Amino acid sequence: MSEEHQKKSFSVPAHIAIIMDGNGRWAKRRGLPRNAGHKQGAKAFENICDYCQKIGVKYVTAYAFSTENWKRPQSEVDAIMELLRSYLKEASKQAKRNVRLLFLGDRKPLASDLQQLMESAERESEKNTGITVCVALNYGGRAEIAHSARELAQMAARGELDPDSIDERLFERHLYTAGIPDPDLLIRPSGELRLSNFLLWQLAYTEFVFQDVLWPDFTPAHLDQAIAQYAKRNRRFGGI
Ligand code: FPP
Repeated sequence: MSEEHQKKSFSVPAHIAIIMDGNGRWAKRRGLPRNAGHKQGAKAFENICDYCQKIGVKYVTAYAFSTENWKRPQSEVDAIMELLRSYLKEASKQAKRNVRLLFLGDRKPLASDLQQLMESAERESEKNTGITVCVALNYGGRAEIAHSARELAQMAARGELDPDSIDERLFERHLYTAGIPDPDLLIRPSGELRLSNFLLWQLAYTEFVFQDVLWPDFTPAHLDQAIAQYAKRNRRFGGI
């Protein structure tokens, strides 16, 4: 952790969630294909994860591909999957840097080689104690809630669970994020002011910061600005 952040480490959020938005517009403004924006976005993602680790953030969760993103042209879907594939092929480097990698979302519709790469990256990094990087891939907040409800209903139908015992804690244990604390700060760049089906359950008490920069241009200085806004907020979690 840098000295500057160490001094004010009380205000560094433990968990930052990021909606990596604006890749397409970034490319369009430069007269480039949309995929060039995603490529630059993937670089920004790695840079920001490194910086988060440096300043003492414990968890970063980034929205890489939503359950709705399949509606995009096949060539764009393929390009995003290819970026993930190359990221995963390099994942052992992350593991060496003490990064724990996790994937959130429904993996079944993904290519089988990608699923295998995801599983091995998770397995190789599971004992790492540095930052945890969660990549939301084929992720949808509503689908995640339905998934948890379905698992609990199946357990109840098998007689393994009394429906009266279902409470928030138990429900959370069946979300993709089981065991991960809720985000403290959500950052959405690109000027859009919506959640787009991201972490609907987990963001209940999260502080939101919206920034005008497009994701491929997002730098550690933008993250510092978001953290400075977060540090000024008075979180009451429903109390007074
Ligand atoms: C949203 O911008 C971005 C996405 C749907 C894809 C995000 C994916 C990456 C940054 C690459 C992921 C790679 C790794 C290694 C995690 P948009 O395309 O909707 O932008 P626009 O609103 O300007 O069109």
